[in-house]
Amino acid sequence: MMNEARARGVARILIDEAAIQARIRELASELDDLYGTDTPLMVGVLNGAVAFMTDLMRAMTIPVKIDFMAVSSYGASTQSSGVVRILKDLNEEIEGRRVLVVEDIVDSGLTLQYLLDVLERRNPIDLRVVALLKKEKVAAAEVRVDQVGFAIPDEFVVGYGLDYAGRYRNLPYVAVLDPRTIEEGQ
Ligand code: PRP
Repeated sequence: MMNEARARGVARILIDEAAIQARIRELASELDDLYGTDTPLMVGVLNGAVAFMTDLMRAMTIPVKIDFMAVSSYGASTQSSGVVRILKDLNEEIEGRRVLVVEDIVDSGLTLQYLLDVLERRNPIDLRVVALLKKEKVAAAEVRVDQVGFAIPDEFVVGYGLDYAGRYRNLPYVAVLDPRTIEEGQ
């Protein structure tokens, strides 16, 4: 596993596949209990949340509905630009519904804060957030996240939905990139 990961430009696996899947089962069970007989609308934030969203919804046993939003904040850089733009809005109306935003990572918190502001104005009954990863830094702590899979150090991570320049999203684990991969612009 590690040799194959190194060959791809990964320096270190931060959270392996088994740990991710075990944590997802816990989060799913909490969500089952929380929503009970209600059917939440799970809103995945494209593209990064796709891996987490699909595993999470299949680990839940209650009925759910799904929809997606796409926003852009990063471009090809590893730093947040602070600019958030809606590239694809929801297909569904959310007024009077229970909405669960599903994010892969909260880093600066800018994307999530923007999304929460937009969605809150549409008057859902209930708006919650589950994020697989949350950076351990002040900015990330300022936005409301109801459930967090893992708190992680402030390093640039890839895998399990997260990309560098569009790559690495299909790794089944979360990893720290070898800085040489970034320098070489791979
Ligand atoms: C990433 C990630 C979050 C956001 C988190 O998305 O999926 O949506 O950045 O960063 P923030 O807390 O600093 O705002 P990105 O814009 O890179 O798009 P992607 O999901 O398609 O990779």
